[in-house]
Amino acid sequence: MSNKTWSGRFNEPVSELVKQYTGSIDFDKRLAKWDIQGSLAHAQMLHEAGVLSAQDLADIQRGMAEIQAEVDSGSLKWSLDLEDVHMNIERRLTDKIGDAGKRLHTGRSRNDQVATDIRLWLRDEISTIRFLIKDLQSALLELASNNVHTVMPGFTHLQVAQPVSFAHHLLAYVEMLGRDDERMADCRKRVNRMPLGAAALAGTTFPIQRETTAKLLDFEQICQNSLDAVSDRDFAIEFTAAASLLMVHLSRLSEELIIWMSPRFAFIDIADRFCTGSSIMPQKKNPDVPELVRGKSGRVVGHLTGLILLMKSQPLAYNKDNQEDKEPLFDTVDTVIDTLRIYADMMRGITVKPENMRAAVLQGFATATDLADYLVKKGVPFRDSHEVVAQAVRHAETQQCDLADLPLSVLQGFSALIENDVYDILTPEGSLNARNHVGGTAPEQVKLQIARWQKLLAE
Ligand code: ARG
Repeated sequence: MSNKTWSGRFNEPVSELVKQYTGSIDFDKRLAKWDIQGSLAHAQMLHEAGVLSAQDLADIQRGMAEIQAEVDSGSLKWSLDLEDVHMNIERRLTDKIGDAGKRLHTGRSRNDQVATDIRLWLRDEISTIRFLIKDLQSALLELASNNVHTVMPGFTHLQVAQPVSFAHHLLAYVEMLGRDDERMADCRKRVNRMPLGAAALAGTTFPIQRETTAKLLDFEQICQNSLDAVSDRDFAIEFTAAASLLMVHLSRLSEELIIWMSPRFAFIDIADRFCTGSSIMPQKKNPDVPELVRGKSGRVVGHLTGLILLMKSQPLAYNKDNQEDKEPLFDTVDTVIDTLRIYADMMRGITVKPENMRAAVLQGFATATDLADYLVKKGVPFRDSHEVVAQAVRHAETQQCDLADLPLSVLQGFSALIENDVYDILTPEGSLNARNHVGGTAPEQVKLQIARWQKLLAE
């Protein structure tokens, strides 16, 4: 006879292969701390409801404290024979305190237990992630503060489009991360609901007080339907979707860092400690960290796909399928936390090369729109001024120079309305300053945005 808690109805123990296949202890032992907290709250509630004696409760509390210490020191021996974290801890408790340990599971099932454990764990991890998102935003703001007047080419189609402030470009990512943080906060509300009390699927015959347990565990709400409580993992999917968007945002920034560090661009340098060399090419310095972030974003999106397919078509209520929620969820959290940590560090180790950024602006006719706007302000309809400037650009291209390098007499050949003041708006700085409205790249606006975010992050 096996030592499983449920083996009573079986004629033979599970095969070795099945034991390996169905066991989850290798990964769900990570939930031990939350499993213990959930059990302590459940026991407390059972006592208050008159189901568990004061002595049993005291024994459970003492036993669990010892087990937590064993978990912390790494001395607790996890056994695959006991399948998962829940049964390992319950057996250890019973070994220590006897019958009181066997009474703990009254009015509870592993189905509501595991759903509660994951939510307790995830709720905590989301708080860490939110903190780290803000730290990365701060790192981006620090770099932005030092580069309000640094002009770089803004791109569309990766072709030079219009000059922008480098700080403005960085602030675009601060905005994205701000929404990522909002999504995390919002999804945490739905994570923070308590399934405990649903028992296996239908509730329990014991006079449980779910409000009491929820309060002890600091849950904001209680899941209101027992079948739903034990079976849905939408909160995990929602979290992984928010995590995927966050990683996708970081993959975009990573792609840019990689491009900017390429010697062809040479807009920035990433500190050596975030790069690696080549075993054959002595000159190489490779941006491994942003490349890995780009790669790991795919891994997290993969977990989202995995989890959403795990849920698809599952009949109510709990099915063992749901045991498969843990590894993708754990890996998503680990990947996101590691990535945010290293990213904030890396952003603080970036050197900017403003002269190269400015030189690139001067190579792509980045101020062509400014010249078109200039003519519009002199009464030329925009479609016509667009055409006039296109001609001027074609000419400058044959001369291999920027629009600002064309003499006034040549520019006047394209439009007699062009006067000497045109050179003020043809510079990258003139172009920046002219876009002075909320959301625009003018240094004045960029400074306001930096101040706005600094205030938001200080709250
Ligand atoms: N290890 C299981 C899981 O992760 C715990 C719940 C198992 N419940 C059951 N009735 N088999 O989902």
